[in-house]
Amino acid sequence: MSQQLEQVKALIELREKARLGGGEKRIDSQHQKGKYTARERIAMLLDEGSFEEFDMFVTHRCTNFGMNKTTFLGDGVVTGYGTIDGRLVYVFAQDFTVFGGSLSETLALKICKIMDQAMKMGAPVIGLNDSGGARIQEGVNALAGYAEIFQRNILASGVIPQISAILGPCAGGAVYSPALTDFNIMAKGTSYMFLTGPAVVKSVTGEVVTQEQLGGASVHASKSGVAHFAADSEEDAIAIIRKLLSFIPQNNMEEPPYKPTADPIERLEDSLNSIIPDSPNEAYDMYNVIGGIVDDGEFFEIHKDYAKNIIIGFAHMGGTSVGIVANQPKYLAGVLDINSSRKAARFVRFCDAFNIPIVTLVDVPGFLPGTQQEYGGIIVHGAKLLYAYGEATVPKVTVTLRKSYGGSHIVMSCKQLRGDINYAWPTANIAVMGADGAVEVLYSKEIKAIEDPEKRAELAAEKKKEYNDLFCNPYKAASYGYIDDVIEPRNTRFRVIRALEQLSTKKLTNPAKKHDNLPL
Ligand code: HXC
Repeated sequence: MSQQLEQVKALIELREKARLGGGEKRIDSQHQKGKYTARERIAMLLDEGSFEEFDMFVTHRCTNFGMNKTTFLGDGVVTGYGTIDGRLVYVFAQDFTVFGGSLSETLALKICKIMDQAMKMGAPVIGLNDSGGARIQEGVNALAGYAEIFQRNILASGVIPQISAILGPCAGGAVYSPALTDFNIMAKGTSYMFLTGPAVVKSVTGEVVTQEQLGGASVHASKSGVAHFAADSEEDAIAIIRKLLSFIPQNNMEEPPYKPTADPIERLEDSLNSIIPDSPNEAYDMYNVIGGIVDDGEFFEIHKDYAKNIIIGFAHMGGTSVGIVANQPKYLAGVLDINSSRKAARFVRFCDAFNIPIVTLVDVPGFLPGTQQEYGGIIVHGAKLLYAYGEATVPKVTVTLRKSYGGSHIVMSCKQLRGDINYAWPTANIAVMGADGAVEVLYSKEIKAIEDPEKRAELAAEKKKEYNDLFCNPYKAASYGYIDDVIEPRNTRFRVIRALEQLSTKKLTNPAKKHDNLPL
């Protein structure tokens, strides 16, 4: 064999060794835990045969604790680029078979390299996380490595989409990079995220919890909101990433991908003409409205199990990718509270950063009152949503279906927050508050002064009618031009699509500044 052929053979052998990561025993153990390896995950994520790997021969440089005797090619993370539906993406997948995917200085450098490349190329970064946190043997070098990644997450925010899947443990410093990215997808049963694990929790606070109770996928998808999706399996998590990217542009300078549809733009949805119940206290399901107006009824919901009183997600309308924000009357009457405000605010800001028009469907009775909300800072959290809508420069189309009262009317993309097209259904009530509350405030003394209960009820009913006639309709707001048109509900699909078409050349910029000071 020639010297060159021997060198080629040696290369092939080295590559095979690198592909085994921490070795077959640890790969088997990974499989036994119901998890895939880093390479298997990348193969599932990317278009077949599209993956190009970087830094396969990188090894750690640590000599503490005899670490120099144990090195693995690739050092605990597989990095590179490939395509999803033909579009360029950069990816890193932590390899749990090498020191539990823990973060070393060199592992961090590998991740930073693809993040830098993604920024130059203007393409998304996808992180598949499965790591025991900072590599303990490396001490401060591991911490420095985390900080280098976080700094890149911060600079990339709003420039390129960043998506994190959590497919195993994610403890300590490992949680902060996902927290800085745009979307977190956790696999149920095999992943968890927390700052400190159950043992530390017990020693510090005495609280006894399992890993799942402390930071499992369901907990973060429903209680903390840290996870946007709780996937049923790793396959499901990967499918969610691919789907998510189909609504999103490659970077903040591009438009989102157009998706041709056979669903007629002028399709009328007759069911919407009778969806609003006669009683204002009766609920209906906002999903039926969304499903009725978007292309092919396909709605890709985000944060499905968190703050269900507001619905957010992506859809296409006339082929255009849109972000939908809608109050859900079926859950807590669609009231705005701390969690729903935060949930929607972050989504509105994502859409605005990535040129995705926002369609807002309004049926909101107001902000949730009470000490729990006030002590939790509803003023600041509600202001986040107000701020997000007000600063957004993407096309904004709002349709008010029913209630739109007080502060919540303003917050939900009203005209004065630069709503471009604001429509209302004839069932809309746009007022400072509902009739019951208004009559209570304005006439309670007068009503209580009447001794005869029948006459008392008569006056209350009369005052409510007077209030309803004046305010509980869309025409008062329309008479001032705060509502651009009152539309037949079944026409909503094509009226919104036409509005979006009209707005497709919208140009609006905010005043130059270093950055804003969003109420955090
Ligand atoms: C070095 C680690 C490691 C780590 C795991 N390993 N975590 N090596 N540094 N942080 C190694 C183990 O020694 C083992 O090596 C292999 O990875 C697999 O680990 P197991 O414990 O056998 O696996 P499992 O039972 O599944 O448990 C996984 C685990 C546990 C829950 C993640 O390993 C664990 O608790 N690790 C420590 C977590 C932690 O406290 N990290 C530091 C966080 S502090 P072998 O050779 O046997 O395969 C932090 C600060 C950063 O991150 C702050 C920045 C802002």
